[in-house]
Amino acid sequence: MGPEKKMRDTYSVAIFPGSFDPVHYGHLDVVETASELFSKVIWAIGVNPLKKPMFSLEQRLEMMRLANKFPNVSVASFSGLLVRFAQSQEAGVIVRSLRMVAADFEYEFQMTLVNRKLVGELKTIYIPAGQEHMHMNSTIVRELILSGEDVEGYLPPEVLMFIRGQNIHTRIRLS
Ligand code: PNS
Repeated sequence: MGPEKKMRDTYSVAIFPGSFDPVHYGHLDVVETASELFSKVIWAIGVNPLKKPMFSLEQRLEMMRLANKFPNVSVASFSGLLVRFAQSQEAGVIVRSLRMVAADFEYEFQMTLVNRKLVGELKTIYIPAGQEHMHMNSTIVRELILSGEDVEGYLPPEVLMFIRGQNIHTRIRLS
């Protein structure tokens, strides 16, 4: 296989990385669009040893598996650098979601520039979260969960059921 063909193949494989603590409708929207654009999508949790997530890695993976309805999307996790994981998976594209929030732009551009400097051939693209999910992020969802508020509009039913079944001191209202 020539280098050009190999390059084209890697651009048909995308990674959608994040913390997904927990996965919500905004993420699902982006993963759905990515699944339509790419032959294969690796939906991956980046393990950050400096972050203390609300849900364990296994719990987050399970919620993503439950929410994932797309045959060309696989759920995974990685530690270390995202670009190295992308290389190991022969993925040529990083997908990130972007909301209409100034903080997102700064953080995302920083990340993109660092990744581009590390591996130039790896391209980052942004998929805007759907209009109805623009205001949503996992931090807000976690705060609502911990306050016992209704999060039905934010999380897919399978994820809500999963969280309700977990032995965490939270009260989830499902209706
Ligand atoms: O959902 P998040 O918390 O914004 O996701 C961040 C994530 C996991 C994509 C990012 O922290 C990451 O890529 N971690 C792997 C470490 C890495 O590659 N760092 C250098 C680029 S910033």
